[in-house]
Formats: sequence, C-alpha cells, structure tokens
Amino acid sequence: MARPKIALIGAGQIGGTLAHLAAIKELGDVVLFDIADGVPQGKALDIAESGPSEGFDAALKGTTDYADIAGADVCIVTAGVPRKPGMSRDDLLGINLKVMKAVGEGIRDNAPDAFVICITNPLDAMVWALREYSGLPHEKVVGMAGVLDSARFRHFLSVEFDVSMKDVTAFVLGGHGDTMVPLTRYSTVGGIPLPDLVSMGWTTQDKLDAIVQRTRDGGAEIVGLLKTGSAYYAPATSAIEMAEAYLKDQKRLLPCAAWVDGALGLKGLYVGVPTVIGANGIERVVDIKLNKDEQAMFDKSVESVEGLVAACKGIDESLG
Ligand code: APR
Repeated sequence: MARPKIALIGAGQIGGTLAHLAAIKELGDVVLFDIADGVPQGKALDIAESGPSEGFDAALKGTTDYADIAGADVCIVTAGVPRKPGMSRDDLLGINLKVMKAVGEGIRDNAPDAFVICITNPLDAMVWALREYSGLPHEKVVGMAGVLDSARFRHFLSVEFDVSMKDVTAFVLGGHGDTMVPLTRYSTVGGIPLPDLVSMGWTTQDKLDAIVQRTRDGGAEIVGLLKTGSAYYAPATSAIEMAEAYLKDQKRLLPCAAWVDGALGLKGLYVGVPTVIGANGIERVVDIKLNKDEQAMFDKSVESVEGLVAACKGIDESLG
C-alpha cells in the first residue's frame, strides 16, 4: 500500500518541525509547501539527509507549486505570520486572513479529500476562514489549539506535583486566546480531579490558579523569551498527535477547534471543544456539561471568537 501523503502548507519554524516529526514517526511521505522559494526545498533536503542516521523511510519534497500537494491525505497549515513581542494573536488577523484565502483555494483545487489541520493564528477565526475558502466538509477542517494548551497545562501540573506527565490529563476549552478555559474539574492526576488534590493538600488553590493563568499566557511566555517568533516544538507535536489520530483511525478524544453546531448550546462556530478524531475526521463533538462558572468563562471565550469572525467578515465581504 502506498504511504500516506502529508502536505505541510508553510515551511517555517512549525512547518519544518512538523516535517521532521512526521518523517521520524513514519506517518507518510511529506511535501513542504511555501511561497519563500528555496526554504521548503532546503528543509526537505536537510530532513531527508537525517534519514540514514535516524533510519526512517519517508520521502520529503519541498515546493512552491500547489500541484505538488495533489492527493494529500493530511494538510497541516502554518502559512502566515507569527507573533512578535507585544502583538496579540488577534493583531495577526488581517495579514493571515489573506493567506488563508490563498491556502484554502490551493487545498480546494488540489487536495479536497484531505483532513486539514490549521495552526495559523488567530486560530479559531483562521480555521473558520480556511474552511469557508476551501469549501471542504466541516468535519475535515479543524484547528490545533486545545491539544497544545492542554499539554502546557499538563506540563505545569506534572512539575507542581512531581509526577509523570503521562499520568496527568487536562482539559482546556474555548478559544485559543487569553479567554481560553482550563477546566480544573475535568483535569486529573491518575484519575484524581484537581479540586480533590487541593483538598488533599497536594497543592493550594492559589498555586493552582497561578498555573491556570500561566497556561493561558503559555504562548506569550515563549514569545517573550524567544523575542523573534513564537513557539514551534510543542505546537508541531500537538498537530502531529491529531494527524496520527486521523491517519491511524485512533478515535482519540482530543480538545480541538472544531465546528460546533448544536452541542454546548452553540449554533455554527469554530471553537475549542472535546472531539473524537478518527478516519472520518472529527467524528464527534463531546457535549459536556459545564457548571455556572465554567459556562460563564466559556461564553466569554465564545464571544471573543465571534468578534474575530465578525472582523474577518468586515475585512472580506465574500465571507459574509
Ligand atoms: N502561502 C504559503 N506559505 C506562506 C504564505 C502563503 N501565502 N505566507 C507566508 N507563508 C510562509 C512564510 O514564508 C513562512 O515560511 O509561512 C511560514 C511561516 O513560518 P514562520 O514565520 O516560521 O512561523 P511559525 O512559527 O511556523 O508559525 C506559523 O502558526 O502558531 C502560529 O502564530 C503562528 O500564525 C503563525 C503560524
């Protein structure tokens, strides 16, 4: 059987890391696409040359021609501009909306059967716009945010509790921005919910609140340290987890920016919710019940995503 084909639209920091991870994990053959001629070709060759030492079988190709993504099984989109210090994800809106138009049309014309994972920020609005421009089914277009936000939360929790990250599960919902909603009630260590661990004296409520806030600011913390760009190792790893769930029909339950129409009281919006990813793409949106405080946080997050979508419609009337 032919290997799956993975197209990476954007061969920058995240795109290059995605290519390396996809090859090492032998998820399939990789095509790196970018408008900056030389960059995708250079990265593809560099990664291919790591193959003999690492021992993977995967073909890598760099290109500036959309025709080369033809028939891709998965497209992961990082094309666009990342944040600089002092910029919010929303500042990127106008620039990256134009990029989503070009990319959406490129995918529509060349890889209409692909499972598309968007990483470009501001995430919830960009994945919505990418879906609109591409015209692909909603269940085949999804945004990567919740897996990353949850991974950051899990990392901080495992350090606080001095336990393996493998035993920490965490849930972060809502938009991928300052209003994201880390749900402590649904986050556990070895199955024990975080509020119980506070009662057991493993940590204090103040410390937990600080970890929640650090999770919300997780992206900005990296931007502040790097100064010349935003995070790329963890974002790439998170998207690869989603791609693998699709390619191997794993039915993973992962928080993603998915199209929600009915669940959680929402009527047609891309926002971070728990989903099941399998061979059909987003196979299910998990309609969890939120308590009053959680619902209030989620509503605020939804409002901010709706504001970004409205801003996109204001910039490009064809999206109205
Ligand atoms: N088509 C294809 N590629 C494009 C286009 C386009 N229209 N416009 C820009 N690019 C490419 C750039 O040439 C660059 O190589 O997208 C790449 C982006 O790479 P980086 O600048 O290194 O950004 P990266 O850190 O990978 O982040 C990409 O993900 O997390 C988000 O906020 C982040 O929106 C940003 C995206």
